[in-house]
Amino acid sequence: MTAFPNSLPAPAHPDPRDAPVLRWGILGPGLIAGHFVAALMKHTGQQVTAVASRTAQRAADFADSYGIAQSYGSYEDLLADDTVDAVYIATPMSEHYAQTVMCVQAGKHALVEKSFMRTAAEAVEVRELARAGDVFVMEAMKTRYIPQVQVIDRLLADGVFGTVDSVVAQYGGVVPFQAGHRVFDPALGGGVLLDIGVYPLSFAYTVLGAFTSVKASGTLAASGVDDSASAVLTTESGARALVETTLRASTPIRASINGSLARVESGEPFHNPSPLSLISADGLRRLDWNDQRYPGRECLAFEASAMARYVADGLTESPVHGLDDSVAIMTLLDEMRRQVGARFTDEL
Ligand SMILES: NC(=O)c1ccc[n+]([C@@H]2O[C@H](COP(=O)([O-])OP(=O)(O)OC[C@H]3O[C@@H](n4cnc5c(N)ncnc54)[C@H](OP(=O)(O)O)[C@@H]3O)[C@@H](O)[C@H]2O)c1
Repeated sequence: MTAFPNSLPAPAHPDPRDAPVLRWGILGPGLIAGHFVAALMKHTGQQVTAVASRTAQRAADFADSYGIAQSYGSYEDLLADDTVDAVYIATPMSEHYAQTVMCVQAGKHALVEKSFMRTAAEAVEVRELARAGDVFVMEAMKTRYIPQVQVIDRLLADGVFGTVDSVVAQYGGVVPFQAGHRVFDPALGGGVLLDIGVYPLSFAYTVLGAFTSVKASGTLAASGVDDSASAVLTTESGARALVETTLRASTPIRASINGSLARVESGEPFHNPSPLSLISADGLRRLDWNDQRYPGRECLAFEASAMARYVADGLTESPVHGLDDSVAIMTLLDEMRRQVGARFTDEL
């Protein structure tokens, strides 16, 4: 039996500035690309050397905003740029497969925004292609690299929770239907599960590993993509994950890991830097942890610096969220979308 600790462990990589430097190119100068570049500039020594859009002016405007030396009006042109070591793919899910393939073929390391691909079949193909090549490919599952999850990793490794009985994770917010918006567009890999449901699902997967059964229900938006989903996922040993996501209601954005010796409760939102509390099973002891130096999307600095460390170490996959993990999560997302009745345009 592992005793309740006297203090919480430190994150493995507390400072994203310590990492070796990669020269980054950005595909898709949209919302998250702006946050990514800003986070790298504020919190890391990483260099952003080029940006590409389907429209030359959009790329030039983005480059001006962030002081990026080179802009391209075509994604292919950026991939031919020798000053780019690594590419951040920040486009809708429908584009991830083809763009990751292009990166591997061009010999560029790729950090692919979540959800990794649209389907497990695409993820398997990319995994096999990446493994046949000599580049690093990683899903940009930012939560996996943020400080409080590094603390949770150590608590899990130390057996502090005892036997984990359940993981509960929830992420919802009201987003009114908007035809053509990438989140509602079945041609762009839309749907709440791939957009934000992947966070609670990925968190539960990180803690519990492989699931042997999935029971999901949810609702569809007018365009046919999923706009809410709840699921119970069960492991071989009987541990359960309760995962919920929705665009129809504002929900807590929280997660807990509940074990025989202790539980951890996140603050909000659990997928970005947030406080956590470790509480003994008898409720008598409690340790609180908090680090708000990298608020909100500034935490994207952690995934980029983690990737730079892995590349410098000669790895081709993330040791904490490798391509098998991304394939497993896409397989669960496929199954949840199937049970909810959601279909992409080419699945209709
Ligand atoms: N990590 C996070 O916190 C976070 C937050 C939000 C989103 N994301 C993820 O980041 C990715 C992009 O999301 P976003 O919200 O940044 O999207 P967004 O604002 O719509 O930007 C997407 C960019 O993709 C490019 N693009 C390429 N092909 C496209 C197509 N067929 N249709 C539409 N746009 C296309 C567009 O650039 P050009 O037209 O200029 O080429 C556009 O600027 C998604 O995978 C999403 O899940 C992550």
